[in-house]
Amino acid sequence: MAKAAKPDDQIFALRMARSAPDLWPMLEQLYGQHPNYNHFCTDLRAALADGWKARPTDLKLLDLKRDLEPDWFQCADMAGYVFYIDRFAGNLRGVLDHLDYLEDLGITYVHFMPCLKPRPGDSDGGYAVMDYRSINPAYGTLDDFKAVSTELRKRGISLCIDLVLNHTAKEHDWAQAAAQGDKAAQDLYWMFDTPDLPQAYSKTLVEVFPDNAPGNFTHYPDFGKWVWTTFNEHQWDLNWSNPQVFLEITRIMLHLANTGVDVLRLDAVAFMWKRLGTRCQSEPEVHMLLQALRACCRITAPAVIHLEEAIVSPQEMLPYFGRGKHDGREGNLAYHNSLMVQFWSALATRDTSLMTHVLASHFPDRLTNATYATYIRCHDDIGWAVTDEDASAVGISGPAHRRFLSDFYEGTFPGSFARGAPFQVNEATGDKRISGSFASLAGLEATDEHDREMAVQRMLMGHALIAAFGGIPLIYMGDELALLNDHSYLNDPAHAHDSRWIHRPRMDWALADARHSGNSLSSQCFLGTQHILARRRATPGLHGAHPTQIVQTGNPALFAVQRAAPTGPILCLFNFSHHWQHVAGGWLQGHGITHWHDALSDQIVTLHGDYLALPPYARVWLT
Ligand code: GLC
Ligand code: GLC
Repeated sequence: MAKAAKPDDQIFALRMARSAPDLWPMLEQLYGQHPNYNHFCTDLRAALADGWKARPTDLKLLDLKRDLEPDWFQCADMAGYVFYIDRFAGNLRGVLDHLDYLEDLGITYVHFMPCLKPRPGDSDGGYAVMDYRSINPAYGTLDDFKAVSTELRKRGISLCIDLVLNHTAKEHDWAQAAAQGDKAAQDLYWMFDTPDLPQAYSKTLVEVFPDNAPGNFTHYPDFGKWVWTTFNEHQWDLNWSNPQVFLEITRIMLHLANTGVDVLRLDAVAFMWKRLGTRCQSEPEVHMLLQALRACCRITAPAVIHLEEAIVSPQEMLPYFGRGKHDGREGNLAYHNSLMVQFWSALATRDTSLMTHVLASHFPDRLTNATYATYIRCHDDIGWAVTDEDASAVGISGPAHRRFLSDFYEGTFPGSFARGAPFQVNEATGDKRISGSFASLAGLEATDEHDREMAVQRMLMGHALIAAFGGIPLIYMGDELALLNDHSYLNDPAHAHDSRWIHRPRMDWALADARHSGNSLSSQCFLGTQHILARRRATPGLHGAHPTQIVQTGNPALFAVQRAAPTGPILCLFNFSHHWQHVAGGWLQGHGITHWHDALSDQIVTLHGDYLALPPYARVWLT
């Protein structure tokens, strides 16, 4: 008589059955024609089963918990903080000493910037990974990592780490073997014997780092190959049309999932599929790959969700949440790059028309099984992703507006409050991206006290916007204390060529220790941010699944978004100008405001005459 299957095996079988329709048809389309396809499927099944067998019991319990609470990452108590381990706390053990600080700020999600073993020297901030199974030795060991992830879980803080999918470091074992002539290893990358195909592809490719890593291919005379290197020379693009890449990365993904992470940030996903005659970004196969990877995680480690990094135009970005046949089956989180860009654009022009147009016309009011990662600053530069069509829809010129934004945030435009640094200026296209910390770009380097206070108000408006918009607000380390640009990167040979290091400062613990004094602007910024996150937690109507509706205010200084919560709408207003604005009480009532309660200040608002008066850079969440 056959023995009854163990419950553990039954759970795995159920999960496999649940996600099989999301997995195998995708793989069949991607790899069905490959001579090794059947073999690959067998290996993949084994990898999924092995991952499940190796999954620690406490994580299996978490899997179950999140199956019961699938909206855990959409709740209003989620608030994220993003940092480099060394810059925040020296090493992983140091992180443990600063968890009270994070809790004090109201953080429930942390993103450790790349923490796997990078190549030596310049590693693009850790995005050139040499070994996906080792922690960066400068940060600690795998045991330290597990100790931190366990402690985070105890405190109810979710952990996000990066999984770099598009490339490995050229020092990775696979790349080393490829350079030594191993044919199977060469097939994991894009390698060519002659420059013909690289030249043909290059006709339609864009350059990500035109300044210091021009072109998309690198010729290595010592082993006679042209290698696809979209980013830096030391980052070799993986060949995802080879099923072996899918298999190897899936094994790595499940291994990382089993170390106790909650969120995997899938880096630079747009570039994963190459097709001659295209930009090789966001090709349809990218979404098949991402849906299949998602399914693998849901089978073996369903507690883990995927954050997809695709810094692309709105139309191109939405599919990363899964649209059409991928609806609800791809990324659970994706960066809201447009919200970020439009925040900075409206702040410079003091006019929200473009912001309102873009956010209202390109984005649905809700997503399935997914929500945004909302942010104002991150570790990367800001690219002015404003299309000519959107600009002309509000009567401005796209090229002129993008140029204006670059000049404004570089600080060269007359009257600009910002102090940024140019990044990867592309003379050929006129493209000029911008680096700079939130505080420096928002005007905190001003000498006049009033101007500096305005800068803090701009920052708090930004944090109130990302806390209310819908999604997980991500605060970049130091922005809660208004840390300024850090020019010391210029003295570091591994960083000097990359102005993004200007906004990756070291944590200032002296400032942090004085955060409750309320005396300094940085303390005001901290207390203001802490308050915003506390009020977000206290306002369940901000749950990510409740629709986000952009409201036309008729006043270009004001941006408005209504969160359609079942308990009644929350109307969030933001004054992007340095002047007082007035909103008619009747208009507010027309948008469902009856309690006159501002959930952000937790006060009843009073009208003056029939008007609500909003000071410069005001933000309110009215119910
Ligand atoms: C991602 C990272 C960026 C890095 C790039 C290449 O976009 O955010 O910092 O340079 O990938 O890995
Ligand atoms: C571009 C790429 C993004 C990368 C960034 C680095 O925006 O699309 O993936 O991280 O450049 O600056």
